[in-house]
Amino acid sequence: MIKKVAEVIKNSSYCIAFSGAGISVESGVPPFRGETGIWNRYNPQLLDLSYFYNQPGKSWEAIREIFYDFFSVAKPNGAHLALAKLEQDGILKAVVTQNIDNLHYDAGSKEVYEFHGNSQKLKCLDCNTYYDAKEVNLKVIPPKCDKCGGLLKPDFIFFGEGIPPEAYQKSFDAAQKADVVIVIGSTGEVMPACQVPVVAKQSGATIIEINPDDSNFTHQITDYHVKMKAAEAMEAIVKEIYN
Ligand code: APR
Repeated sequence: MIKKVAEVIKNSSYCIAFSGAGISVESGVPPFRGETGIWNRYNPQLLDLSYFYNQPGKSWEAIREIFYDFFSVAKPNGAHLALAKLEQDGILKAVVTQNIDNLHYDAGSKEVYEFHGNSQKLKCLDCNTYYDAKEVNLKVIPPKCDKCGGLLKPDFIFFGEGIPPEAYQKSFDAAQKADVVIVIGSTGEVMPACQVPVVAKQSGATIIEINPDDSNFTHQITDYHVKMKAAEAMEAIVKEIYN
């Protein structure tokens, strides 16, 4: 299977990757679903946009624990690094990611479409000033804007919030152009992100899925299911490609 998918990727003309939380599990970032999933410990309502507006303090308590205590120490793993190498060598054209952990950029990927935004920036909801999350004192929550006193919100998408238009457009454009999509570590449960691989499939792409478990994609659109963890699978595939 590794040999076969390596050949498919090597012979592709427009290969993209679509990543979910599973690609970052080996970097120590917990997924959202499954037995170690964040949503087993926190109510997803805490990340509902209307809840954030009504209870910014409570919402920020959970946001800080989930996203800022964890992510600041996470490093890219072999899967992120393998995708960055494939891009450097002109094989991979883009990564569409649902993740907000910045690990694709940290690994050196350049063409990354962040479908759900990024946790590294906070934005003032009144004057739109952006802050680097590392420079904001999150001991005082909810954090407020130094300029206007407005409420700061992480620059990632909450439930009920629109997808960043540029990332949306670029992701679906890439999906339509792709002849191969490497889907890594996603349950395929969240709309509209999970439509990206589906649109690619409908446009004739071959779908390679890397996931130790089955997902919503597996029996619908997946052509090759590599039932392995992301880092070991991608490292084996890249080794095969450069063999
Ligand atoms: N390697 C590859 N895949 C893995 C690994 C691993 N080491 N560990 C777990 N997985 C797989 C799981 O089998 C599961 O299919 O990763 C997937 C994680 O699923 P989710 O946590 O649902 O992640 P994702 O699909 O990205 O969630 C989509 O949900 O809460 C929202 O906005 C949030 O972007 C997120 C969206």
